[in-house]
Amino acid sequence: MSPRFKVRSERARGIISKRVESISPSGIRKFFDIISTMEGVISLGVGEPDFTTPWHISEAGIYSLEKGYTMYTSNKGLLELRQELARHLSSRYGLEYNPETEILITVGVSEGLDLAMRSIINPRDEVLSPDPTFVSYGPCAVLAGGVFVPVPTTVENDFKVRAADIKKRITDRTKAIIIGYPNNPTGTVMERHELAEIAEIAQKHDLIVVSDEIYNRLVYGVEHTCFATLPNMKDRTILLGGFSKSYAMTGWRVGYAAARPEIIEAMTKVHQYTMLCAPIIAQMAAIEAVKAGEAAVEEMVADYDQRRRVMLKGLNDIGLACFEPKGAFYCFPSVKGTGLSSEEFAEKLLLEEKVAVVPGLAFGEFGEGYVRCCYATAMTDIEEALRRMGRFVERYG
Ligand SMILES: Cc1ncc(COP(=O)(O)O)c(C=O)c1O
Repeated sequence: MSPRFKVRSERARGIISKRVESISPSGIRKFFDIISTMEGVISLGVGEPDFTTPWHISEAGIYSLEKGYTMYTSNKGLLELRQELARHLSSRYGLEYNPETEILITVGVSEGLDLAMRSIINPRDEVLSPDPTFVSYGPCAVLAGGVFVPVPTTVENDFKVRAADIKKRITDRTKAIIIGYPNNPTGTVMERHELAEIAEIAQKHDLIVVSDEIYNRLVYGVEHTCFATLPNMKDRTILLGGFSKSYAMTGWRVGYAAARPEIIEAMTKVHQYTMLCAPIIAQMAAIEAVKAGEAAVEEMVADYDQRRRVMLKGLNDIGLACFEPKGAFYCFPSVKGTGLSSEEFAEKLLLEEKVAVVPGLAFGEFGEGYVRCCYATAMTDIEEALRRMGRFVERYG
C-alpha cells in the first residue's frame, strides 16, 4: 500500500467528528421523513401552529422588503426590536433588561440554546435537564463539549421535575440546568413555588439556569412563571424567548436571549462568527408582533384551549390515560395498556390507521411508554384522529 493511499484512507475513516457521531439524529425528524411519503395521514406529530402568521405581522415583513430593508443588522439585532422586547419583559414580568447590553436577537430559540451552551460550557461540564426533554437540549450540551445528565420525571408528578431528583445528580462538574416550561413534549407547567425550589438549588450550587420559555404564552387556566423573576435568579438565568409558537412564526426564524451583559456579550461573540445576525425581514415582522400581536395571541390561545379539551377527553375516553397538560400544545398519553413500546405504537398507528404521533422515547428514556400528540391541528382532524386511535386501541388493548 502506498503511503499516499494510506493517508487518504485514514482521513476517510475519521472524517466526522466524534462529538457529532456521538449524537443521534432527532427521533422526530426520522419519523416525519416516512410520513412525507404517505397520503391521507392525519398528523398530530410536528410541534407547529397550524395558523399562518397573523396578517399584520406578515405585512410588516413584506413592507420591510418594499422599503428596501434587505441588509444585515447589527450582530445583536435591530435596536428597536430589542427595545420593544425590553418593554415587553418589563410590562409582562416586571423584569428590567437593558436593550443595549442584555438582549440578543437570535435565529430562533434553537440558536439561542446552542449559543447559551457554547458560551458557558467547558469540556466535561455537566448539564442537567428533566427527562423527557425537548430533543435539542442534550445534543446542544454535547456539541458544546458538555455532558448531558437527564433528570427523571414521572406521570405520578405530572412530569414536573422534583428538586430532590435534581439534587441527587449534582456533582462538582454541574454547570447548568436547562428547563423548558410549559414543556415540550409533556405540556407540563410548573408553578412558581415549584420552580422556586430549582432556583434555590441553582443559588446554592452556583449554577446557570437556561430557561427555554418559547411556550410562555400558551398556558390554559394557569399563569406562566418567568424563571428570571424568582429571587436572585435574573443574574443566573439565560432566558430564551421566541416568536415561533406564540405568534405562529416558525418559518421566520427569530427569537431572543435575555441575560446579564457578560453572558450576552459571550453569546454575541459566537453568534457574530456563525450567524452574523437574524434575518432583517423577520426582525421587522417581530417588532410588529411584540407591539401589536397581543389580540392575535389571545385568539389563538383560546382556540388551542378548545382543542386541548377535546383531545384530552378523547384520549382518556379511548383508554389512553392522559394527565391534564396546562401548557404548550401537546398531550402526552400513556400507551402502556396496549402492550406496545412507544415506537411500535407510533409505527403501527401510522401504518394501520394513518395517524402520526411521536414516540415518547424520542424525548428520552423516561418518555418511553408515552406518545406526544400535538393538538395544533384542525378540530375535525383531531376528532377523526381520535376515532382512528380508538379503533387501534381496541385491537391492541
Ligand atoms: C421547547 C422548544 N424549544 C425551542 C424550539 C425551537 O424554537 P425556534 O423555532 O424558536 O427555533 C422548539 C420547537 O419545537 C421547542 O419545542
